[in-house]
Amino acid sequence: MNVHDSEKVVGTLMARGYTQVETPEDAQLVLYNTCSIRDKAEQKVFNRLRQFQRRAGKGKIFGVLGCVAQQEGEEIFRRAPHVSLVAGSASYTKLGEMLAEIESGNRRVTGLSLSTDETFDTPFTHRDNPHRASITIIEGCDKQCAYCVVPFTRGPERSRTSASVMDEARGLAERGSTEIQLLGQNVNSYRDPSPAGWDFAALLARVAEVPGIRRVRYTTSHPRDFTRSIVDAMDSNPAICDHVHLPVQSGSTKVLAGMDRLYTRDDYMRRIEWLKTARRNYSITTDIIVGFPGETEEDFEQTLGLLDEVQYDSLFSFKYSPRPNTAALAMGGRVADEEKQRRLVIVQEKQRAIQIRRNAMLIGGIREVLVEGRNPALGQWIGRTSDNRTLNFTVADSNGHDLVGQYLQVRVTRSGPNSLVGESVSVV
Ligand code: 5AD
Ligand code: SF4
Repeated sequence: MNVHDSEKVVGTLMARGYTQVETPEDAQLVLYNTCSIRDKAEQKVFNRLRQFQRRAGKGKIFGVLGCVAQQEGEEIFRRAPHVSLVAGSASYTKLGEMLAEIESGNRRVTGLSLSTDETFDTPFTHRDNPHRASITIIEGCDKQCAYCVVPFTRGPERSRTSASVMDEARGLAERGSTEIQLLGQNVNSYRDPSPAGWDFAALLARVAEVPGIRRVRYTTSHPRDFTRSIVDAMDSNPAICDHVHLPVQSGSTKVLAGMDRLYTRDDYMRRIEWLKTARRNYSITTDIIVGFPGETEEDFEQTLGLLDEVQYDSLFSFKYSPRPNTAALAMGGRVADEEKQRRLVIVQEKQRAIQIRRNAMLIGGIREVLVEGRNPALGQWIGRTSDNRTLNFTVADSNGHDLVGQYLQVRVTRSGPNSLVGESVSVV
């Protein structure tokens, strides 16, 4: 999401006549886009600011954007006096005005209001990748998961109009993009503010019908708002990729209640059942937090049991990290860092074994990939399957063609825990 925000910010700057330079040393204006979802994000930003200022900061204008900007606010000016702009993502709609102030010499410009009902729709998004593109459909979050800083840094939920999303999707298709990723903190609670009133399933289906679009992905889903109609939309639209990222966070209903996730393990498993009994085969991935306050060994074992039961194709796992303003900060039952680390390693080892087994079952099959790049050292092309696996492959004779952006059929010949290897069976 931050990468895509940066594409919008860069585009806004370029539309005002700025040009992009190769290195920060060459720049006159340096903006840091920041994330504060976990760890000591604010500390990292201050360290980077300090180091760069010492090395090459002379005469440059600095700005801090994103969640650390929102979280730390004017404190940033105090701790890093060479910074001139501090703005959270809910203020990017005012980026033009803020830049105008900077250009007229104001050295203390802020955009920190969270009370907004606007979304940052811009025609100026600067995308480097001509084949795959992200589109934000909903910004902010109205959930209040006890561990999560996002509602405090990205503000309240607001959806873009379906017309604006569809215009952007059609424009991207005309420009030659074939894969679109719909983005939001919780895409499932998308609600078209215009009279058309589409929900997420309707929007997903319509984007998938745009001529020229061959793949549509979306992230992230909140299980509570993940409806059967989304599975139906996926089943009936082959352009919607066979992948669902459905963050569970924990396999213990007790911990889920502490997290304020608004679903039980059984509620979650019902969604998994919809996907497993659907007409198409879906790859399911998730996020896990270990060591949330009050998580006992037994709770943790329930998470391990859930991994066995669901058989995810991949997951992101994190040690619980206390975040400012969040409800979990005040909770008892702190889990020691060594214990969090131990649980994290166990989750990752278990999942690695699951992935080795699941990926091995794909050997011999043929998969369509979108070619994303090349690894000259290995003589391989890098492709991605619809179900979001990396499939590195060789091509008998590419006649010197650049295959990036093409769709090819590849036979899987080998597998590892995190990727597949194969050979192209398409004529290129
Ligand atoms: N500590 C650890 N992990 C977190 N996440 C969000 N907030 C925290 C936190 N305070 C994880 C969740 C979420 C993913 C994007 O980051 O698993 O789904
Ligand atoms: Fe954070 Fe929960 Fe909102 Fe996701 S749904 S952004 S975890 S508060």
